Amino acid sequence: MKRTTYAGLVDEKLIGEEVVLKGWVQKRRDLGGLIFIDLRDIKGIVQLVFSEEYGEDALKVADQLRGEYVIEVRGKVVARADKEVNDKMRTGKVEVDIVEAKILATAKTPPFYIQDDINVSDDLRLKYRYLDLRRPEMQRSILMRNRIIQAVHSFFDSQEFIDIETPTLTKSTPEGARDYLVPSRVYPGSFYALPQSPQQFKQLLMGAGFDKYYQIARCYRDEDLRGDRQPEFTQIDMEMSFADPEEIQEVTEGLIAKVMKDALGKEVQLPFAKMSWDESMARFGTDQPDVRFGMELKDLSEIMKNVDFKVFSSAVENGGQVKAIAVPGGADLYSRKDLDAFGKYVERFGAKGLAWLKVTDDGFSGPIAKFFGDDAVRDEILAKTEAKVGDLLLFAADNSRVVANTLSYLRVQIAKEQNMIDESKFAFLWIVDWPLFDYDVDLKRYVAAHHPFTMPNEEDLHYLMNADEDPHKAYAQSYDIILNGLELGGGSIRIHRRDIQEKMFEALGFTKESAEAQFGYFLNALDYGFPPHGGLAIGLDRFVRLLADRDNIRDVIAFPKNSKAVEPLTSAPAPVATKQLEDLGIFVADNDEDKK
Ligand code: AMO
Ligand code: AMP
Repeated sequence: MKRTTYAGLVDEKLIGEEVVLKGWVQKRRDLGGLIFIDLRDIKGIVQLVFSEEYGEDALKVADQLRGEYVIEVRGKVVARADKEVNDKMRTGKVEVDIVEAKILATAKTPPFYIQDDINVSDDLRLKYRYLDLRRPEMQRSILMRNRIIQAVHSFFDSQEFIDIETPTLTKSTPEGARDYLVPSRVYPGSFYALPQSPQQFKQLLMGAGFDKYYQIARCYRDEDLRGDRQPEFTQIDMEMSFADPEEIQEVTEGLIAKVMKDALGKEVQLPFAKMSWDESMARFGTDQPDVRFGMELKDLSEIMKNVDFKVFSSAVENGGQVKAIAVPGGADLYSRKDLDAFGKYVERFGAKGLAWLKVTDDGFSGPIAKFFGDDAVRDEILAKTEAKVGDLLLFAADNSRVVANTLSYLRVQIAKEQNMIDESKFAFLWIVDWPLFDYDVDLKRYVAAHHPFTMPNEEDLHYLMNADEDPHKAYAQSYDIILNGLELGGGSIRIHRRDIQEKMFEALGFTKESAEAQFGYFLNALDYGFPPHGGLAIGLDRFVRLLADRDNIRDVIAFPKNSKAVEPLTSAPAPVATKQLEDLGIFVADNDEDKK
């Protein structure tokens, strides 16, 4: 029997025709002499009817069927009786009267139902991922991913970008995470690094004259995992020669518009809004603001430097800030206990507490209201925060980093809790004019805000190039694209001059020798007529997740790692035999594999 169509495509147009279908048994209902089977395939589900009248042997086959058996059937498409019509299903107006049926494979009872909204652990789903992926919502996500990938290829091809593969057994590219290493058998003690991104190679391709490059590239980063991070993930990576930031942003917007159209049928408004990094930090306390709602951070430092409340005045005195957000109607939304819990939570950002005031008809209420009895001060606070009666003011007083982290967290958390976010919106936003460096409080040193190949602003070059100036003051020609408060992608104009690149490494703490040892080949390349260039990379998994409206990027990756970087289906990573390690010149203390 040759398949004539898909189960999910059988509709009224086929009424009266004979079809051959192949797929999985979703459901079986036995009415005694009459058996209904829901047959599922990649396109959907159709109802099959087995009875003696249509096929005696087929009915016998139907009798043996269980969930997830694979079958092939031949039968006639008929209209359902009016009262049996299911308008929710594409195939709901018809059913197939089965003449002939055959079991192609039997199945054990699966560990969970093959349907949407199952309530089982992620690890069980990942262990039986091939079953998990049979579920319609998972198939929709993976199909959406495919739609997006096809749109990406089609867009870049139409713009004459060239798809070029770059190595995955390579030397480390510093994107800020730890590398995954691959030992060399031929050179014991030497290692390849899996690329954190194709950054240096795509730049070298510009040096090679390819003008416009793109790649859907696999990247590897050994970092702490979260809902939007995987050890192994995919970038839509691109690079252009002779382009300025605006041209690169324009191409990116064209790409995103094409993807939104092809994957969701949505038209997006171009160009996207732009906001400087400084403004974003000031208004939202983050470089990836969700601009679908208000509750912006208001700086009250000027007002608070003279108040009686020491927590506030001394924060300003010590060079810090006092900022606040006003929660609309918040006075009735949160109890003292809730606010204490928030205060406890924000300690992880270094906050020493969470001061709050409720705005009432007779001024402020709350434990610190006594410090704010002065009408003039109260009016200034209300004017600055635009808070109204019934609102709740939440304050953070500390250095700018702690204040930003505390209030940006509370802003988003409260907006989610109070359903203040219009989930139907896609709010794209460029964050531009980034600082070139970022101070890493854990490492206690400056790191590249993006990566070490980012070009400083022309007017800030002197900070880098003059020995007696502070390079860390420089701003960069870099930009991130944000969607609904999440970093979707980032890029920059790159350094194409050796002298600037050397200064950049120096400012990051490299000695001349260590820069030469690690990046000599790259610096050398800049000696041979390197074009000005720039580019960007979008996290494909994050993009798909947002468009497919899933909570975790795991749901849009066929075989992802769990939150502990384990792949439960194959149990990777796994120990290997000592012999294999010996070949690689590697000695592992206490290798469990030897004990087996
Ligand atoms: P960046 O490091 O910002 O830039 O990465 C680009 C985008 O990749 C996605 N991303 C991730 N997605 C899933 N899991 C991860 N662990 C992960 N890490 C990053 C994010 C991010 O915005 N070479 C530069 C790009 C350039 O300058 O052209 C780069 O890699 O969506
Ligand atoms: P205290 O004077 O320590 O009793 O604090 C009074 C209120 O201010 C409490 O609600 C604290 O949680 C809050 N608070 C303390 N330190 C800070 C700070 N650095 N920023 C914001 N609120 C704070």
